[in-house]
Amino acid sequence: MRTKDLLNLDSLDRPEIEEIFDLTAQIKKEPKQYRQVLSGKAVGLVFQKPSTRTRLSFEVGMFQLGGNAVYLGPEDIHLGVREDIRDLARTLSRYLDGIVARTYAQEDAENLAKYSSIPVINGLSNSYHPCQALSDLFTIKERFSSLDSLIVAYVGDGNNVLHSLIQICALMGVSLKIAVPKGYEPDPEVLRWAMSRSSKISVYHDPKQAVKGSDVVYTDVWTSMGQEKEAKERKKAFEKFQVNRQLTALAKPEHGVMHCLPAHRGEEITDDVLDGKHSIIFDQTENKLHLHKAILSLWLGGKK
Ligand code: CP
Ligand code: NVA
Repeated sequence: MRTKDLLNLDSLDRPEIEEIFDLTAQIKKEPKQYRQVLSGKAVGLVFQKPSTRTRLSFEVGMFQLGGNAVYLGPEDIHLGVREDIRDLARTLSRYLDGIVARTYAQEDAENLAKYSSIPVINGLSNSYHPCQALSDLFTIKERFSSLDSLIVAYVGDGNNVLHSLIQICALMGVSLKIAVPKGYEPDPEVLRWAMSRSSKISVYHDPKQAVKGSDVVYTDVWTSMGQEKEAKERKKAFEKFQVNRQLTALAKPEHGVMHCLPAHRGEEITDDVLDGKHSIIFDQTENKLHLHKAILSLWLGGKK
């Protein structure tokens, strides 16, 4: 059964993910059918970090479903500073029907969820980006018609985006070949959880090994929000992990290239790959809108 909150993909199972994908496909195909499903409802976006796509897709998505979205940025709510998270959670629960939270600590999103009576959806924390991984796998399924026998290669940092990608690949039985520099591996707990469910996850320190024969090549920034002080040392550690033409030439001829965006062009990905014919990056971006509408409909109690 679906849990109250969507904080981390380990709370979902395969049928629940398939239900989200089916609804996303329907909403994408016939958006007008869903214009009233959240009529009169309101979601609050409690965002402690900047956002373009996640904010827009949840805000616009909520409007397209007939509801309202209220953005509460770092200047509006100093999470845990202006007031205790428990008081904030209880207050928001009296006004809103749901919360999308973008926090530094995963624990902050968990505490918001614990003390609120309304659903809390994780719109990225330092540890996870569950909604991103859901729309990414939806995009892969759309591009290749099926997830069966696909190999996804992830080249880059062992970060929040990778953690959620590992979880969803394990849940959906998709092979994931990860290439990270030494010292930048994903959280061993996340890997252990995934490997206990799937034998299709492997970690390399050589990007070529991961990308060779893959259907999808995925990358993300080398320096995530909140890690800006480490940017210089990270640039050096990741210099051999750039997704460029030479590397993608090792993937299957019909491969797709993905990036959750924002990208640092010329660092983790070159212009020619981001703009090239294999890039499905802007379909991936668009699908965040459709998928977030499905999440809002399901978690905030829409009829469909
Ligand atoms: N992919 C993503 O979450 O983008 P934003 O940080 O712009 O929301
Ligand atoms: N890993 C990136 C993802 C941004 C969507 C970050 O946390 O900044």
